[in-house]
Amino acid sequence: MTDLCVNIDHVATIREARRTFEPDPVFAASIVHLAGAAGITIHLREDRRHIKDRDLRLIRDVCQIKLNLEMAATDEMAQIACDVHPDQITLVPEGRQEVTTEGGLDVVTNRDAVKKTLDAAKEKGIETSLFIDPNRAQIDASKAVGANAIEIHTGEYANANSKAARAKELATIADATFYADSIGLEVYAGHGLTYYNVVPISQIGQIQELNIGHSIIARAVLVGLDQAISEMLLLL
Ligand code: PXP
Repeated sequence: MTDLCVNIDHVATIREARRTFEPDPVFAASIVHLAGAAGITIHLREDRRHIKDRDLRLIRDVCQIKLNLEMAATDEMAQIACDVHPDQITLVPEGRQEVTTEGGLDVVTNRDAVKKTLDAAKEKGIETSLFIDPNRAQIDASKAVGANAIEIHTGEYANANSKAARAKELATIADATFYADSIGLEVYAGHGLTYYNVVPISQIGQIQELNIGHSIIARAVLVGLDQAISEMLLLL
């Protein structure tokens, strides 16, 4: 079975729509744990648009399953990671204008910044992963800078608009997975995975862990709506 890490950023996105206290991603982290997921993923963005420093610190305190912190390869984030000590950091590219992470990290051209951040984390015993496109040059560079793992970006697969295009992207992901595994990297995958497209990815045996966020939070809103309305009606 493939491990599931649930990305709960969008619980915080709903909170920030009103800049209030609910829904609290710290509560969500406990539910993720109780539901049997292997880990919790949160992305502390430079602009703090959803997850805040307070969320990271409290989730670190309550989280008894793997805590994976997505972050940019900056000195500020390296310092925070070293202070808070998630189980793993995943370095991602970050653009202020983007709606979500677009494209994998270019490890080939950002080797120095990536290595500096990885070295700081590794010195504190934190596992390290790099979110990259399924591309051999990026995989080789990830190995060279000393990452423990890569997370393969599944966005192109998720966005493929024909059966043939999806099959081609799946084959590219499988090939990248086998290659990364053969050179001793752990392999994870994520981005854009849904209830409709996840199974073929989960069947690639060497992929140990999937990071899934938007689709799970989107479904939670709908499957929970009936109960939420019933509870309000009881009060009225
Ligand atoms: N993996 C990484 C590195 C991401 O940045 C994201 C999105 O925050 C995900 C996985 C989860 O993607 P999605 O929300 O589309 O499931």
